[in-house]
Amino acid sequence: MLIIDSLLEADEVQSYRQILATLPWQDGSKTAMGMAAAVKRNAQADTNDATLRQLANRLLARLGETKELVSAALPLHIFPPCFNRYQDQDEYGWHVDAAIMRLPNSHQVMRSDLSMTVFLSEPEEYDGGELLITTEFGELPVKLPAGHAVLYPSSSVHKVCAVTKGTRFAAITWLQSMIADHSLRQTLQQLDQTIQSLMVNQRANRQELDQLHNVYHNLVRQFSQL
Ligand code: NI
Repeated sequence: MLIIDSLLEADEVQSYRQILATLPWQDGSKTAMGMAAAVKRNAQADTNDATLRQLANRLLARLGETKELVSAALPLHIFPPCFNRYQDQDEYGWHVDAAIMRLPNSHQVMRSDLSMTVFLSEPEEYDGGELLITTEFGELPVKLPAGHAVLYPSSSVHKVCAVTKGTRFAAITWLQSMIADHSLRQTLQQLDQTIQSLMVNQRANRQELDQLHNVYHNLVRQFSQL
């Protein structure tokens, strides 16, 4: 699990929120598949709306520019972000995200390796609404400041607790990684971060850094599935 601080700055969150206030909202259960639909109670911004699509593309571009995310996820595909709203006891009960997703308006399918939530409301704006993720260490509640994001394995069972007061806005998306294996992906992330830190601190000479870069890229080359 990875938390990305300030994926969006405060003024950007403001701008997202202003746009979300103008959008048409639909019953979220219509976009859930199978068993998930029965436990999903929220509203979702209409993905056919042109303004919504612009906003989704804006967020998609930001995700692609976020080095920490790229390093951790090594994304091959990112699903166009969806925007949702929880209020008046809305909740999304325990469920699993679909393994295979069809990209909108396309024949292309992708595998969900990682799920992501970008929080667009401050924690003080609503009661409840924690994202609860089942991990090997138990259930982990996640409720982050607006603009922060959490990335977690799509294989984990999770829920969004009922929002008992106020409104919770969030964007969600899924990523297919070039590296399907979680532990290998984490090891590559550690290696990449160590290289970045050595570069910043100038603790390694050029030749050593080149060697480490070479090792990193050769591992990605060997194990990536495109
Ligand atoms: Ni989910």
